[in-house]
Amino acid sequence: MIVAFVQTKGGTGKSTLALNVAYSKYMRKEFPSIALVELDPQGTLRKWWSRREQNAHKKGNIVFHHISSEDKDEILEEIEMLENENELLILDVPGESIGKFHTKFACAVSDLVLIPMRTSTNDEEAFEDNLMPIIKKIIEIDQESRDVFYIVPSFTHPLANKVNVLAYFKEIMPDFVHCLPAVFSFGSVFENFSRGGNNLIEYGESVKANAKLYDQAKKAINEVEAIAKEIIQISSN
Ligand SMILES: Nc1ncnc2c1ncn2[C@@H]1O[C@H](COP(=O)(O)OP(=O)(O)O)[C@@H](O)[C@H]1O
Ligand SMILES: [Mg+2]
Repeated sequence: MIVAFVQTKGGTGKSTLALNVAYSKYMRKEFPSIALVELDPQGTLRKWWSRREQNAHKKGNIVFHHISSEDKDEILEEIEMLENENELLILDVPGESIGKFHTKFACAVSDLVLIPMRTSTNDEEAFEDNLMPIIKKIIEIDQESRDVFYIVPSFTHPLANKVNVLAYFKEIMPDFVHCLPAVFSFGSVFENFSRGGNNLIEYGESVKANAKLYDQAKKAINEVEAIAKEIIQISSN
């Protein structure tokens, strides 16, 4: 199975979600072998992974792979190889690339496309201009892709009512773009959890002695687990 985090706009939480969903307890229990795959030339996750290696973090059932090629056939070949070796591929897709190449590619090959998006006019306009035409085109070619595209409300206010956020997206989105019944809320924990190559769970362990930091980490971990649970739920339908 291939799950991609896609959003033509930068800084909406794609890389953060990709890595932490890969490391969530739900995913790791459900999928014996997971490949976290970065298509982003910026290499946010590649740098994070090298910090992980420097600090000798446990690999467990997760492999990391950075694909730097911009050639469609080459990328496809690498993805197919990874698919043969792993039950789940999680793709981190760059916001910007020439002709939205990576976004189009990921939207076309993935079983589930997750679109982290803020409740902001900026994000909505960017989505309408950039991602929507790609989604429409894919659905035109393949009607079954109507079940593939899900908004993940991101950077939501920690006190926002989840039901209202979901209702908001449901109202503004066409019927072929769904909304994950889980949110990724704004948290200061995301400023520094990954510094030593940590994932959220490892960061949480490292701040256990500090009640405030630990509490923030736990809230974020619970949200990521809820998102992972929904992804598994959708993909098993
Ligand atoms: N839920 C969140 N709350 C607050 N900051 C976040 C959250 N998720 C990510 N961030 C921060 O926002 C920035 C962009 O996140 P990132 O995952 O790299 O986005 P993208 O991959 O979409 O460009 C990073 O500095 C990251 O640490
Ligand atoms: Mg990114």
